[in-house]
Amino acid sequence: MHASLADILADLAQNSVEAGARRISISFSEKPDEIRFAVEDDGKGMDDDTLAKALDPFWSDGVKHPGRRVGLGIPFLRQTADQCGGKASIVSKPGEGTRIEAVFPADNVDLPPVGNLVLLWLQCLSFEGSYGMDIHRRRELVGREDAYRIDRDEMSDALGGLEDIGALGLLKEYIVSLEESLNEEQREGEK
Ligand SMILES: Nc1ncnc2c1ncn2[C@@H]1O[C@H](COP(=O)(O)OP(=O)(O)OP(=O)(O)O)[C@@H](O)[C@H]1O
Ligand SMILES: [Mg+2]
Repeated sequence: MHASLADILADLAQNSVEAGARRISISFSEKPDEIRFAVEDDGKGMDDDTLAKALDPFWSDGVKHPGRRVGLGIPFLRQTADQCGGKASIVSKPGEGTRIEAVFPADNVDLPPVGNLVLLWLQCLSFEGSYGMDIHRRRELVGREDAYRIDRDEMSDALGGLEDIGALGLLKEYIVSLEESLNEEQREGEK
């Protein structure tokens, strides 16, 4: 399976929502030599035993998929980090939350593609539930740094909710414009 980094992040964000998090913070940063991301939540967290099991691709807690005992989110992150010389770390405390961080060398041939960040953010912002979410996107190439931030509550207020298809269409256009402005600023810097 050739998943992108965006696919992995979508999985991690979904786990955070499913863990009952009220606040989720996601960061994604590209530099010339490394790509780094983190997902932090204040959800139910995992004890050592659950965490050890979550690292195992042949385990899922059996709640979400009754009868299925395989989960792929966290094992896939680990496998990806292993195959391309990156590092993934998970810190979790029951009742407090979870922080998952990963860093990958940008030039490794086995690094999966970044994938479509516009669709990733759209997906992360539109899971069902009343969680808050902060997205931090940074890009540093040719010696300059550009960034944008998206706050789920702000978006929801501005669009009158994130449920209907019209609101999601507008949200998508907005995220496309944020990504494009990063690229534009980057091109300016190259001149
Ligand atoms: N952020 C988190 N907070 C609390 N528990 C988590 C978190 N992420 C994962 N877990 C626990 O680890 C288990 C395994 O997660 P994983 O994403 O691998 O599989 P899944 O979510 O059960 O199934 P799938 O992602 O395939 O739908 C989860 O069922 C959950 O119990
Ligand atoms: Mg999952």
